[in-house]
Amino acid sequence: MRVTVIGTGYVGTVTGACLAYLGHHVTCVDTDESKIATLQRGESPIYEPHLDTMLKLAPRSGAIDFAVELAGAAAASEVIFIAVGTPPLATGEANLEYLEAAAHSIGAAMDSSRFRVVVNKSTVPVGSGNLVETLVREGLADAHPAAGGKVRFGVASNPEFLREGSAVADSLYPDRIVVGASDETTLAIMRELYRPVVAQSFEPPPGVPRPPALTAVPLVTTSLTSAEMIKYAANAFLAMKIGFANEIANICERVGAEATEVMAGIGLDSRIGSRFLNPGVGWGGSCFGKDVRALLHTAREYGYDSRLLQASLDVNTAQRQMVIQKLQEKLYILKGRAIGLLGLAFKPDTDDLRDAPSLHIAERLLQMGARVKAYDPVAMKACREQRPDLKIRYCESARELAAESDALVVVTEWREFQTLDLAGLARSMTTPILVDGRNLFAAEAAMAAGFDYTGVGRCPRPRSA
Ligand SMILES: NC(=O)c1ccc[n+]([C@@H]2O[C@H](COP(=O)([O-])OP(=O)(O)OC[C@H]3O[C@@H](n4cnc5c(N)ncnc54)[C@H](O)[C@@H]3O)[C@@H](O)[C@H]2O)c1
Repeated sequence: MRVTVIGTGYVGTVTGACLAYLGHHVTCVDTDESKIATLQRGESPIYEPHLDTMLKLAPRSGAIDFAVELAGAAAASEVIFIAVGTPPLATGEANLEYLEAAAHSIGAAMDSSRFRVVVNKSTVPVGSGNLVETLVREGLADAHPAAGGKVRFGVASNPEFLREGSAVADSLYPDRIVVGASDETTLAIMRELYRPVVAQSFEPPPGVPRPPALTAVPLVTTSLTSAEMIKYAANAFLAMKIGFANEIANICERVGAEATEVMAGIGLDSRIGSRFLNPGVGWGGSCFGKDVRALLHTAREYGYDSRLLQASLDVNTAQRQMVIQKLQEKLYILKGRAIGLLGLAFKPDTDDLRDAPSLHIAERLLQMGARVKAYDPVAMKACREQRPDLKIRYCESARELAAESDALVVVTEWREFQTLDLAGLARSMTTPILVDGRNLFAAEAAMAAGFDYTGVGRCPRPRSA
């Protein structure tokens, strides 16, 4: 099938590369000329494991190209994805200006040569499916006032559930595909587009093996509104689940229970499940905060005050502050102290810093007069570029970070941190304090290495022989 993907961010680039790998002919379009130039050179504009490989493999199975101009690609395509950003406004509402511009341009590019499906993959407030249809029609009417009635298209909502850091695997082996649409022609095209994923009929790309026992992926069809709501409800639930783990961890600390044991104990209950129960410094990233706020905003527009969603946001903000409290408990005075942040990215295997807890923690520490140092295997370049206002001293290694620091804080649980020489780090510090904001290390091991160790909800107890 001929496919256009508008927006070459985390979602659009991965979607485009995977659809091409599955045999479709894909054009990825972005208004950002530098991103398109990078992609045209065969490089990925973002750090995402296996994406480079997919971009190289894609032309062998299907075809992939990149353009700044939408018109030609959209006119030639049967399926046009919108995967542009929907960042939050100050009010919590999603900013729909990029979506509106994209939908309008799609309308302007359409002709009557074929039936097309306009698929919205961006996370948009409930009711935006109709908005997309309206905007496409307006774009069409503005560009071709006489052609309106002859141009045929359907609109689908196809929310994205990929996780940065494992976006390629999530796209090829999703738990489910959700398609909201109101007509059979649109649904049939979407079923055909995703047939290789649904049937798992493709050869897995190198390095991204198919999960054992995965033989088919459910394709859930719903109304447009339900599809949009599914995306928000999923993110709100996951944010709440992490927030719940953090709340319980905070109580564990006070009563002397070990949160990691408690989470393992409740996670085995099949009604609860063990994932997203790791206590830490709180969630971040481009989606949870933005989507929970947008859902709250939508609920308020309909006269409903969702106290649970609001609590989920409040608990997360407080959790980031918890790092500062733990440092104060250990060091009393933070002014002039050198604090080393292990990790900046909002989670491992990405360079994404949107709403990253590290930024909040660094800001707060700097306000309090601390000297902030940081080491991240991937995200330091992005942090330097995006946050020149933060006077962070960037280090080339964890060793450099630890040297003469008053405390280390684990903010991102990068795999490579697990094998650090803790004893060596502790020895090089002014005071060997470790605030493990991700419970990355075994408390006993960190203490045996010489650290004054604090995790989240942890209460290490001596084991009897
Ligand atoms: N990042 C994630 O993990 C994730 C997961 C699921 C859903 N989503 C949702 O998917 C959407 C995209 O997210 P993202 O993280 O990929 O965003 P992003 O900011 O990384 O990328 C968006 C891209 O769209 C481009 N763009 C904006 N307006 C355009 C236009 N009119 N024409 C062409 N290109 C245009 C921008 O230049 C940018 O490159 C958002 O709604 C987000 O909430 C994101």
